[in-house]
Amino acid sequence: MNPTKTAIQMGATALITLASGAALAAPPDWSKVPQAQFTLFYPGVSPLEWVTKGTEHGGARGLKKDETCKSCHSEETADMGKKIASGEKLEPNPVKGRAGSIPVSVQAANDGAQLYLRFSWKQPPAASGAEKLDKDNQVKITVALEDNKVAGTASMGCWVMCHGDVRTMPGVNDDKKTKYVKDGSLASGKFIDLMQWASKTGQSDGYVADKRVMTGGKALVEAKGEQKGDEWVVVFTRKLAGAGSDGDITLASGKTYEIGFAIHDDHSGGRFHDVSLNYTLGIDTKADITANKQ
Ligand code: HEC
Repeated sequence: MNPTKTAIQMGATALITLASGAALAAPPDWSKVPQAQFTLFYPGVSPLEWVTKGTEHGGARGLKKDETCKSCHSEETADMGKKIASGEKLEPNPVKGRAGSIPVSVQAANDGAQLYLRFSWKQPPAASGAEKLDKDNQVKITVALEDNKVAGTASMGCWVMCHGDVRTMPGVNDDKKTKYVKDGSLASGKFIDLMQWASKTGQSDGYVADKRVMTGGKALVEAKGEQKGDEWVVVFTRKLAGAGSDGDITLASGKTYEIGFAIHDDHSGGRFHDVSLNYTLGIDTKADITANKQ
Protein backbone atom coordinates (compact mmCIF):
# COMPACT_ATOMS: atom_id res chain seq x y z
CA MET A 1 0.00 0.00 0.00
CA ASN A 2 1.22 3.48 -0.84
CA PRO A 3 0.70 5.64 2.28
CA THR A 4 1.03 8.97 0.42
CA LYS A 5 -1.64 8.06 -2.09
CA THR A 6 -3.99 6.95 0.68
CA ALA A 7 -3.55 10.27 2.48
CA ILE A 8 -4.38 12.18 -0.69
CA GLN A 9 -7.43 10.03 -1.30
CA MET A 10 -8.62 10.56 2.24
CA GLY A 11 -8.13 14.32 1.91
CA ALA A 12 -10.12 14.36 -1.32
CA THR A 13 -12.98 12.42 0.24
CA ALA A 14 -13.09 14.81 3.19
CA LEU A 15 -13.19 17.80 0.83
CA ILE A 16 -16.05 16.35 -1.22
CA THR A 17 -18.04 15.64 1.94
CA LEU A 18 -17.49 19.18 3.14
CA ALA A 19 -18.48 20.76 -0.18
CA SER A 20 -21.71 18.80 -0.56
CA GLY A 21 -22.54 19.40 3.10
CA ALA A 22 -22.29 23.15 2.59
CA ALA A 23 -24.48 23.13 -0.54
CA LEU A 24 -27.26 21.11 1.08
CA ALA A 25 -28.07 23.06 4.22
CA ALA A 26 -30.44 21.08 6.39
CA PRO A 27 -34.13 21.74 5.84
CA PRO A 28 -35.99 22.90 8.95
CA ASP A 29 -37.73 20.60 11.40
CA TRP A 30 -41.24 21.31 10.09
CA SER A 31 -42.90 20.01 13.24
CA LYS A 32 -41.54 23.11 15.02
CA VAL A 33 -42.65 25.64 12.39
CA PRO A 34 -46.13 27.22 12.80
CA GLN A 35 -48.66 26.73 10.01
CA ALA A 36 -50.54 29.60 8.39
CA GLN A 37 -53.86 28.68 6.77
CA PHE A 38 -55.19 30.15 3.54
CA THR A 39 -58.13 29.21 1.38
CA LEU A 40 -57.30 29.46 -2.30
CA PHE A 41 -60.37 30.07 -4.44
CA TYR A 42 -61.44 29.79 -8.04
CA PRO A 43 -61.39 33.36 -9.46
CA GLY A 44 -63.20 32.72 -12.76
CA VAL A 45 -62.98 35.71 -15.06
CA SER A 46 -62.07 38.46 -12.59
CA PRO A 47 -59.01 40.13 -14.18
CA LEU A 48 -57.43 43.42 -13.04
CA GLU A 49 -59.75 45.32 -15.36
CA TRP A 50 -62.78 43.77 -13.61
CA VAL A 51 -61.59 44.32 -10.02
CA THR A 52 -60.62 47.94 -10.65
CA LYS A 53 -63.67 48.93 -12.69
CA GLY A 54 -66.12 50.47 -10.24
CA THR A 55 -69.25 49.70 -12.19
CA GLU A 56 -68.87 45.94 -11.75
CA HIS A 57 -66.94 45.29 -8.56
CA GLY A 58 -68.03 46.72 -5.21
CA GLY A 59 -64.41 46.77 -4.02
CA ALA A 60 -63.03 49.09 -6.71
CA ARG A 61 -63.50 52.24 -4.62
CA GLY A 62 -61.90 50.65 -1.57
CA LEU A 63 -58.89 49.65 -3.66
CA LYS A 64 -58.28 53.31 -4.55
CA LYS A 65 -58.02 54.04 -0.82
CA ASP A 66 -56.13 51.82 1.61
CA GLU A 67 -58.15 48.66 1.31
CA THR A 68 -56.72 45.49 -0.18
CA CYS A 69 -58.27 42.29 -1.53
CA LYS A 70 -57.53 40.48 1.72
CA SER A 71 -58.89 43.25 3.98
CA CYS A 72 -62.33 42.78 2.44
CA HIS A 73 -62.32 39.14 1.36
CA SER A 74 -59.91 37.12 3.50
CA GLU A 75 -62.62 35.34 5.49
CA GLU A 76 -64.97 34.59 2.61
CA THR A 77 -62.87 33.14 -0.21
CA ALA A 78 -64.54 29.73 0.10
CA ASP A 79 -67.94 31.33 -0.53
CA MET A 80 -66.56 33.40 -3.40
CA GLY A 81 -65.07 30.33 -5.03
CA LYS A 82 -68.31 28.41 -4.66
CA LYS A 83 -70.32 31.19 -6.29
CA ILE A 84 -67.86 31.46 -9.18
CA ALA A 85 -67.16 27.76 -9.79
CA SER A 86 -70.90 27.06 -9.93
CA GLY A 87 -71.30 29.67 -12.67
CA GLU A 88 -73.47 31.97 -10.57
CA LYS A 89 -70.92 34.69 -11.19
CA LEU A 90 -67.84 35.43 -13.33
CA GLU A 91 -67.63 32.03 -15.03
CA PRO A 92 -69.32 31.63 -18.39
CA ASN A 93 -68.42 27.92 -18.69
CA PRO A 94 -68.71 26.26 -15.28
CA VAL A 95 -67.43 22.70 -14.90
CA LYS A 96 -69.82 20.40 -13.10
CA GLY A 97 -68.55 19.32 -9.68
CA ARG A 98 -65.53 21.60 -9.67
CA ALA A 99 -64.47 22.51 -6.12
CA GLY A 100 -64.54 26.28 -5.58
CA SER A 101 -61.70 26.43 -3.10
CA ILE A 102 -58.67 24.62 -1.65
CA PRO A 103 -57.57 25.14 1.97
CA VAL A 104 -53.77 25.22 2.09
CA SER A 105 -51.32 25.15 5.02
CA VAL A 106 -48.14 27.14 4.55
CA GLN A 107 -44.96 26.98 6.60
CA ALA A 108 -41.81 29.02 6.08
CA ALA A 109 -38.31 29.17 7.51
CA ASN A 110 -34.85 30.36 6.56
CA ASP A 111 -31.30 29.43 7.50
CA GLY A 112 -29.58 32.70 6.67
CA ALA A 113 -28.82 31.60 3.10
CA GLN A 114 -31.98 29.86 1.91
CA LEU A 115 -35.75 30.23 2.23
CA TYR A 116 -37.84 27.11 2.76
CA LEU A 117 -41.56 27.13 1.93
CA ARG A 118 -43.75 24.13 2.61
CA PHE A 119 -47.28 23.84 1.23
CA SER A 120 -49.76 21.09 2.02
CA TRP A 121 -53.35 20.55 0.95
CA LYS A 122 -55.93 17.84 0.48
CA GLN A 123 -56.67 16.67 -3.03
CA PRO A 124 -60.06 18.23 -3.94
CA PRO A 125 -62.75 15.93 -5.37
CA ALA A 126 -62.48 15.40 -9.13
CA ALA A 127 -64.79 17.37 -11.41
CA SER A 128 -66.38 15.70 -14.37
CA GLY A 129 -65.47 16.76 -17.88
CA ALA A 130 -62.96 19.52 -17.11
CA GLU A 131 -60.70 20.23 -20.07
CA LYS A 132 -57.19 18.84 -19.47
CA LEU A 133 -55.17 21.83 -20.66
CA ASP A 134 -52.01 20.40 -19.11
CA LYS A 135 -51.86 16.79 -20.21
CA ASP A 136 -48.59 16.10 -18.36
CA ASN A 137 -49.20 17.52 -14.93
CA GLN A 138 -52.08 16.58 -12.70
CA VAL A 139 -51.06 19.30 -10.24
CA LYS A 140 -48.94 22.44 -10.29
CA ILE A 141 -48.28 24.95 -7.52
CA THR A 142 -46.83 28.34 -8.34
CA VAL A 143 -45.46 30.93 -5.93
CA ALA A 144 -45.20 34.62 -6.87
CA LEU A 145 -42.84 36.92 -4.95
CA GLU A 146 -42.53 40.65 -5.36
CA ASP A 147 -40.22 43.26 -3.88
CA ASN A 148 -42.57 46.24 -3.52
CA LYS A 149 -41.74 47.64 -6.97
CA VAL A 150 -44.73 46.74 -9.12
CA ALA A 151 -47.46 49.32 -8.47
CA GLY A 152 -50.59 47.86 -6.92
CA THR A 153 -49.12 44.54 -5.79
CA ALA A 154 -49.40 45.40 -2.10
CA SER A 155 -53.15 45.92 -2.41
CA MET A 156 -54.05 43.59 -5.29
CA GLY A 157 -51.47 40.78 -5.19
CA CYS A 158 -51.47 38.54 -8.26
CA TRP A 159 -54.27 40.51 -9.90
CA VAL A 160 -51.66 43.04 -11.14
CA MET A 161 -50.54 40.42 -13.67
CA CYS A 162 -53.98 39.04 -14.51
CA HIS A 163 -55.58 40.73 -17.51
CA GLY A 164 -58.67 40.25 -19.60
CA ASP A 165 -56.66 39.90 -22.82
CA VAL A 166 -54.49 36.90 -21.88
CA ARG A 167 -54.78 33.34 -23.08
CA THR A 168 -57.71 31.22 -21.89
CA MET A 169 -59.78 34.33 -21.05
CA PRO A 170 -63.14 34.32 -22.85
CA GLY A 171 -62.90 35.74 -26.37
CA VAL A 172 -59.09 35.58 -26.52
CA ASN A 173 -57.90 33.38 -29.38
CA ASP A 174 -54.17 34.02 -28.89
CA ASP A 175 -52.85 31.08 -26.89
CA LYS A 176 -49.37 32.64 -26.60
CA LYS A 177 -50.40 35.82 -24.80
CA THR A 178 -49.39 35.25 -21.17
CA LYS A 179 -49.83 37.27 -18.03
CA TYR A 180 -47.82 40.50 -17.68
CA VAL A 181 -47.41 43.59 -15.51
CA LYS A 182 -47.81 47.19 -16.68
CA ASP A 183 -44.42 48.71 -17.64
CA GLY A 184 -42.77 45.47 -16.56
CA SER A 185 -39.09 44.79 -17.28
CA LEU A 186 -36.19 43.08 -15.53
CA ALA A 187 -34.04 46.18 -16.07
CA SER A 188 -36.42 48.43 -14.11
CA GLY A 189 -36.90 45.81 -11.40
CA LYS A 190 -40.64 45.81 -12.14
CA PHE A 191 -41.25 42.12 -12.29
CA ILE A 192 -42.83 39.36 -10.29
CA ASP A 193 -40.64 36.42 -9.42
CA LEU A 194 -42.20 32.99 -10.02
CA MET A 195 -41.29 29.50 -8.94
CA GLN A 196 -43.29 26.43 -9.73
CA TRP A 197 -43.51 22.75 -8.95
CA ALA A 198 -45.35 20.51 -11.41
CA SER A 199 -46.23 16.93 -10.51
CA LYS A 200 -44.72 15.37 -13.63
CA THR A 201 -42.36 17.87 -15.25
CA GLY A 202 -40.78 19.12 -12.00
CA GLN A 203 -39.53 22.56 -11.04
CA SER A 204 -39.18 25.83 -12.91
CA ASP A 205 -37.94 29.27 -11.97
CA GLY A 206 -39.16 32.25 -13.96
CA TYR A 207 -40.79 35.66 -13.74
CA VAL A 208 -43.51 37.92 -15.11
CA ALA A 209 -42.50 41.28 -16.63
CA ASP A 210 -43.85 42.30 -20.06
CA LYS A 211 -44.68 38.62 -20.43
CA ARG A 212 -44.35 35.42 -18.44
CA VAL A 213 -41.08 33.50 -18.75
CA MET A 214 -40.75 30.16 -16.98
CA THR A 215 -36.96 29.77 -17.31
CA GLY A 216 -33.77 31.65 -16.50
CA GLY A 217 -34.14 31.97 -12.73
CA LYS A 218 -31.22 30.76 -10.62
CA ALA A 219 -32.52 31.27 -7.08
CA LEU A 220 -34.67 28.15 -6.88
CA VAL A 221 -32.49 25.35 -5.53
CA GLU A 222 -35.12 22.66 -5.40
CA ALA A 223 -38.87 22.14 -5.51
CA LYS A 224 -39.98 18.71 -4.34
CA GLY A 225 -43.49 17.42 -4.01
CA GLU A 226 -45.33 14.22 -3.34
CA GLN A 227 -48.80 12.89 -2.76
CA LYS A 228 -49.16 11.15 0.61
CA GLY A 229 -52.55 9.51 0.65
CA ASP A 230 -54.98 12.27 -0.24
CA GLU A 231 -52.57 15.03 0.75
CA TRP A 232 -50.08 16.92 -1.41
CA VAL A 233 -46.89 18.23 0.18
CA VAL A 234 -44.55 20.51 -1.74
CA VAL A 235 -41.36 22.10 -0.40
CA PHE A 236 -39.49 24.88 -2.16
CA THR A 237 -35.87 25.64 -1.28
CA ARG A 238 -34.77 29.00 -2.61
CA LYS A 239 -31.63 31.08 -2.17
CA LEU A 240 -32.37 34.31 -0.32
CA ALA A 241 -30.07 36.24 -2.64
CA GLY A 242 -31.17 36.64 -6.23
CA ALA A 243 -29.73 38.54 -9.18
CA GLY A 244 -32.57 40.73 -10.46
CA SER A 245 -31.31 40.19 -14.02
CA ASP A 246 -32.40 36.53 -13.76
CA GLY A 247 -35.89 37.44 -12.63
CA ASP A 248 -35.03 36.57 -9.02
CA ILE A 249 -35.71 39.10 -6.28
CA THR A 250 -33.43 39.26 -3.25
CA LEU A 251 -34.94 38.43 0.14
CA ALA A 252 -33.29 40.13 3.13
CA SER A 253 -33.64 39.55 6.85
CA GLY A 254 -35.99 42.07 8.46
CA LYS A 255 -37.87 42.84 5.25
CA THR A 256 -41.37 42.02 3.99
CA TYR A 257 -42.35 40.98 0.47
CA GLU A 258 -45.58 40.39 -1.40
CA ILE A 259 -46.46 36.75 -1.89
CA GLY A 260 -49.26 35.02 -3.77
CA PHE A 261 -49.73 31.40 -4.75
CA ALA A 262 -51.90 29.33 -7.03
CA ILE A 263 -52.73 25.68 -7.55
CA HIS A 264 -53.62 24.16 -10.90
CA ASP A 265 -55.48 20.99 -10.02
CA ASP A 266 -56.89 18.25 -12.24
CA HIS A 267 -54.60 18.88 -15.27
CA SER A 268 -55.85 22.46 -15.58
CA GLY A 269 -53.92 25.31 -17.19
CA GLY A 270 -54.18 29.04 -17.83
CA ARG A 271 -56.77 30.86 -15.77
CA PHE A 272 -58.37 27.65 -14.43
CA HIS A 273 -56.46 27.69 -11.14
CA ASP A 274 -57.28 28.37 -7.51
CA VAL A 275 -55.52 31.47 -6.24
CA SER A 276 -54.64 33.30 -3.04
CA LEU A 277 -55.38 36.92 -2.27
CA ASN A 278 -52.51 39.38 -1.64
CA TYR A 279 -50.38 38.21 1.29
CA THR A 280 -47.02 39.13 2.78
CA LEU A 281 -43.88 37.12 3.46
CA GLY A 282 -41.58 38.38 6.23
CA ILE A 283 -37.99 37.23 6.55
CA ASP A 284 -37.29 37.18 10.31
CA THR A 285 -40.14 39.66 10.72
CA LYS A 286 -43.82 39.10 11.34
CA ALA A 287 -46.08 38.97 8.27
CA ASP A 288 -48.96 36.82 6.97
CA ILE A 289 -46.29 34.18 6.39
CA THR A 290 -43.19 34.51 8.55
CA ALA A 291 -39.93 32.79 7.66
CA ASN A 292 -37.94 32.84 10.87
CA LYS A 293 -34.35 31.68 11.08
CA GLN A 294 -34.09 28.09 12.25
C1 HEC B 1 -63.56 47.58 -0.10
C2 HEC B 1 -63.78 46.16 -0.05
C3 HEC B 1 -63.30 45.34 -1.23
C4 HEC B 1 -62.03 45.26 -1.73
C5 HEC B 1 -60.82 46.05 -1.32
C6 HEC B 1 -62.06 44.25 -2.74
N1 HEC B 1 -63.33 43.77 -2.88
FE1 HEC B 1 -63.91 42.24 -4.10
N2 HEC B 1 -65.84 42.54 -3.59
C7 HEC B 1 -66.29 43.45 -2.66
C8 HEC B 1 -67.73 43.38 -2.59
C9 HEC B 1 -68.61 44.25 -1.72
C10 HEC B 1 -68.14 42.36 -3.50
C11 HEC B 1 -69.55 41.82 -3.79
C12 HEC B 1 -70.36 42.65 -4.70
C13 HEC B 1 -69.68 42.95 -6.01
O1 HEC B 1 -69.44 42.02 -6.81
O2 HEC B 1 -69.39 44.10 -6.22
C14 HEC B 1 -66.93 41.85 -4.12
C15 HEC B 1 -66.89 40.83 -5.04
C16 HEC B 1 -65.75 40.23 -5.51
C17 HEC B 1 -65.70 39.06 -6.35
C18 HEC B 1 -66.88 38.29 -6.87
C19 HEC B 1 -67.31 37.18 -5.96
C20 HEC B 1 -68.35 37.57 -5.00
O3 HEC B 1 -68.35 37.03 -3.88
O4 HEC B 1 -69.23 38.38 -5.33
C21 HEC B 1 -64.39 38.80 -6.59
C22 HEC B 1 -63.81 37.67 -7.40
C23 HEC B 1 -63.62 39.81 -5.91
N3 HEC B 1 -64.46 40.66 -5.25
C24 HEC B 1 -62.25 39.87 -5.93
C25 HEC B 1 -61.51 40.90 -5.36
C26 HEC B 1 -60.09 41.04 -5.52
C27 HEC B 1 -59.21 40.09 -6.28
C28 HEC B 1 -59.72 42.17 -4.86
C29 HEC B 1 -58.36 42.80 -4.81
C30 HEC B 1 -57.77 43.08 -6.13
C31 HEC B 1 -60.91 42.71 -4.26
N4 HEC B 1 -61.98 41.92 -4.58
C32 HEC B 1 -60.93 43.82 -3.45
C33 HEC B 1 -65.49 44.25 -1.86
C34 HEC B 1 -64.11 44.40 -1.99
